[in-house]
Amino acid sequence: MDHLLPPEIADADRAFPEALAACGDLDALLRLKGAYIGREGSHAARLMDLLKAAPKEQKRDLGAAINGLKNRWEEALKARQAEVEAARKATGAQLWDKSLPPPLPPRGALHPLNRLMDRLVDVFRPLGFHVEEGPEVETEAHNFDGLNIPADHPARGSADTFYLAGHPGLLLRTHTSPVQVRTLKNLAPKILEMGGIRFLAPGRVYRKDEIDPTHSPMFHQVEGMLVGHDIGMHHLKGTLEYALRALFGPTTEIRLRPSYFPFVEPGCEVDVSCPLCGAKGCRVCKGSGWVEILGAGLIHPNVLSLAGIDPAEWSGWAFGMGVERMAMMLSQTPDLRLFFENDQRFLKAMGGLD
Ligand code: DAH
Repeated sequence: MDHLLPPEIADADRAFPEALAACGDLDALLRLKGAYIGREGSHAARLMDLLKAAPKEQKRDLGAAINGLKNRWEEALKARQAEVEAARKATGAQLWDKSLPPPLPPRGALHPLNRLMDRLVDVFRPLGFHVEEGPEVETEAHNFDGLNIPADHPARGSADTFYLAGHPGLLLRTHTSPVQVRTLKNLAPKILEMGGIRFLAPGRVYRKDEIDPTHSPMFHQVEGMLVGHDIGMHHLKGTLEYALRALFGPTTEIRLRPSYFPFVEPGCEVDVSCPLCGAKGCRVCKGSGWVEILGAGLIHPNVLSLAGIDPAEWSGWAFGMGVERMAMMLSQTPDLRLFFENDQRFLKAMGGLD
């Protein structure tokens, strides 16, 4: 039957084994496949044309010859492809599709807690607040004494506070309030000429708390402070209402409840109307419609005079808020530990990574 095939096909068939063996990669193999059994312009395609044009009585034999040849080429190409792929796998080389966009390395992003602190700073910046920082390893003098915290205050105990072994008087700051003391002391000489001061102090703080869904021995706070002339609770309330509405939405209400902190007088705790249920009552606000968000008050005269600022002339307010608590509420995250485990799935869901 093969005598029915034209001589150039017989030539091509003879050249086939060598050409096949010469195909070292899939590209070459695909080219060879195209030349032999491709839909158009291939040897097989030429044979099909021949078959069409052949006299009726030749068709059966010629068809069988063509099919036999095509199948043989196909089988051999398949076998060679398996060999080439196995060799590629063995060397670990990748198939490289030049038309695909290059894979980009994963890009980092700010941690959700840092983004929330940045947002707070952005809310206060247009009101004239700048950012102050203080060290996480603090002195007892800044963390307690300068804040009018009495020597026998329970928070000073080693049950609540991390003291640095072998370094008396040094501790991990238990709140961001010592930044008040540092900043007031540093700026005391200039405060008159500046007409007052207003700043935020975001940062890490440490307490000896057992780890559970709402506690961590390290967490974040944002401190806020304003010093000026004739500052009263109305200034504090107005500023907090503005800031908390910017954060939680324009319909947010706030309420001040009397409370005690040694460094303010009067002191208060501030609640916002629950942003999740619109103050109707839900799991987050425990049905009350209100969520406690920060502690605040008018700066205690002792804090000012300890920093060298005359409380007869100057007054101000301060507040401190917990960042994790706010982040948990805004993102409805039930467990604070998620913020510290660096599980990429959580961070991505928080929009922390793109
Ligand atoms: N330092 C307080 C705490 O960690 C929070 C606080 C309350 C800060 C009242 C203030 C304030 O500045 O005026 O619990």
